[in-house]
Amino acid sequence: MEVVIVPDAKAGGELIAEAMAALVRRKPDALLGVATGSTPLPIYEALTAKVREGEVDASRARICQLDEYVGLPAGHPESYRSVVLREVVEPLGLSESAFMGPDGSAEDVQGACEAYDRALAEAGGVDLQLLGIGTDGHIGFNEPCSSLASRTRIKTLTEQTRVDNARFFEGDIEQVPHHVITQGIGTILEARHLVLLATGEGKADAVAATVEGPVASVVPASALQLHPHATVVVDEAAASKLKLAEYFRHTYANKPAWQGL
Ligand code: GLP
Repeated sequence: MEVVIVPDAKAGGELIAEAMAALVRRKPDALLGVATGSTPLPIYEALTAKVREGEVDASRARICQLDEYVGLPAGHPESYRSVVLREVVEPLGLSESAFMGPDGSAEDVQGACEAYDRALAEAGGVDLQLLGIGTDGHIGFNEPCSSLASRTRIKTLTEQTRVDNARFFEGDIEQVPHHVITQGIGTILEARHLVLLATGEGKADAVAATVEGPVASVVPASALQLHPHATVVVDEAAASKLKLAEYFRHTYANKPAWQGL
């Protein structure tokens, strides 16, 4: 995988937004997989600015969701569908019809998961999948020990993830659902390009285990090592536990000019 160390979250957002813009210039109807959480927000701000300033026409781009809570009422402001509509789809000026995600309120949750995997394949597959990382190394909502071959399915959140995400629910862990739908790790690995952004010291251990540890389901993000085109963008704080940090800096600084992310 390629590891890029940037000074701060804003620089990471700008770098990734430019990679997404370049993709959309090459392929106007690209399917962009987006992630939730606070980490990717600088990416969405930078991409929105590029669209507003006319640097890229994203009017034909399509957006898809990585994961979703199960059981929140339709339209709940913290359902990931609402978050992605608010943070990505609307700012980019896209219509809801350009957006696909799993149905977290379906009666047949397993059927909804299988339908989502089929829909992604029928849409031609994800061109670029953005990922954040949980403090426990999860991607999407694939918690530690998720099968590296898993497909979209229902998962139970760890207590740590519910604590981490309580800030989106008035700080009240009781409001954080126990269950979620997430693209499986096998599903995520089918995207043509994976781009993981991690910022802040709280992610440093998870980043080191992902990049320099063995591929192991106990660190779900380590599955990125199996992907032919995975990019990990980290700020200085999130890179602080990487033993190979200097090597990564040297590699990126000496990359051929024509190569994008
Ligand atoms: C949630 C999401 C993940 C995200 C993670 C980290 O668990 N399901 O996709 O990466 O939160 O969020 P944050 O970026 O806010 O730290």
